[in-house]
Amino acid sequence: MRITFPASHERIGAVRIHEAGRIIELDSAGDRCEADARADHAFLSSEVLESAHRRLTVVVPIKNERRSTLRGVLAGIPGGCRVVVVSASEPQPIDRFGLEREVIDDFVSRTGRHVLHVHQRDAIVAAAFEQSMPELLDGAGLVKWGKGEAMLVGAMIAREFDSDAVGFIDADNYVPGAVNEYVRIFSATIASMKSEYTMGRISWQSKPKVDEGSLVFNRWGRSTTVSNQVLNEVLSHYLGEGTRIITTGNAGEHVVSMPLAGRLRFTGSFGAETGQFIDLMEQYGGIIPPIGDVPERVDVIQTETINPHFHEDKGEEHVAIMRDQSVATITDSPICPPHVAEAYRTEVPVPDRYPAFEARPAIDLERLEKGGAGDVER
Ligand code: GDP
Ligand code: CO
Repeated sequence: MRITFPASHERIGAVRIHEAGRIIELDSAGDRCEADARADHAFLSSEVLESAHRRLTVVVPIKNERRSTLRGVLAGIPGGCRVVVVSASEPQPIDRFGLEREVIDDFVSRTGRHVLHVHQRDAIVAAAFEQSMPELLDGAGLVKWGKGEAMLVGAMIAREFDSDAVGFIDADNYVPGAVNEYVRIFSATIASMKSEYTMGRISWQSKPKVDEGSLVFNRWGRSTTVSNQVLNEVLSHYLGEGTRIITTGNAGEHVVSMPLAGRLRFTGSFGAETGQFIDLMEQYGGIIPPIGDVPERVDVIQTETINPHFHEDKGEEHVAIMRDQSVATITDSPICPPHVAEAYRTEVPVPDRYPAFEARPAIDLERLEKGGAGDVER
């Protein structure tokens, strides 16, 4: 695999946000060529990628998605990666969690892969987390609903697997080949990182939509456009000059090295993605006093995919909720300059932010693995 090195970066405190790199070649044969001496791109052999896959856990948050789509997503995740499917699928009118389990069991029995399937609202999951992250539980004693919450559950499970990194892949991706590319990029990012505190984010080459019968290849999705803009305005304020470097403000597809994942304060619901940029700037941006020690260098590597991003279109209302939660996460931050907070203020409740899990005790994995649909709230 060949990926161009980022041409430039913006720096805020210890955080370097790199301009998006591009894919030159998805799959490279074993040998380097003469051009590699120019060193304008990273070369990753199949062996390097495969060993990185083995040290990666891929978390797939899923809520009421089609079975065939989940089957495609699983098929696209390179062999070697462990997979954790964190579900919030509703049991009515059909038992979607049970249907997911059938797809997963079939995949596992044919491939011998390691896939853990848990339900976010399972009492067994709540019991496994109540010592380590009680903040995740709600009044009913179960893990709260929400995509960011599912990501935190998955990341803490990945830590128990001793993975070097945790990646996130949405379950509603229609193109298994794109999923395969995203995870290859995750592994490439982790295999070539310069700081153990590294995050890799996927920048979609395009996000096609069907519009009056024809395919329109939009550069960015509707919610992403706003999130990138607001994040870039915050960043510009501190840089003292305009920047548009952030193109992955809403990237559900991203990878985090485990040392960084353990220190991040995850944001719940759909604040999850913008929350990561905000938390990096709060903790390591040198803007407000840090809560712990600051690593010398934290890298955000953005990579533009060569596949288009086709996912389930969930409609205007859903996009509006997502957009507002992502934006509220930014405007609520103490580092958000007042003029930006004022310009983008929304009415939605600000998503919860969770403490870092690095210092928290291990979750009870054995108990989790025995779980199943268990006591899923019905
Ligand atoms: P978008 O792709 O950013 O428009 O957001 P989606 O609504 O498609 O959500 C991204 C992924 O998270 C999809 O795979 C959803 O099924 C999943 N998802 C959304 N909300 C939840 C949730 O509350 N819990 C879990 N476990 N997954 C969720
Ligand atoms: Co989606």
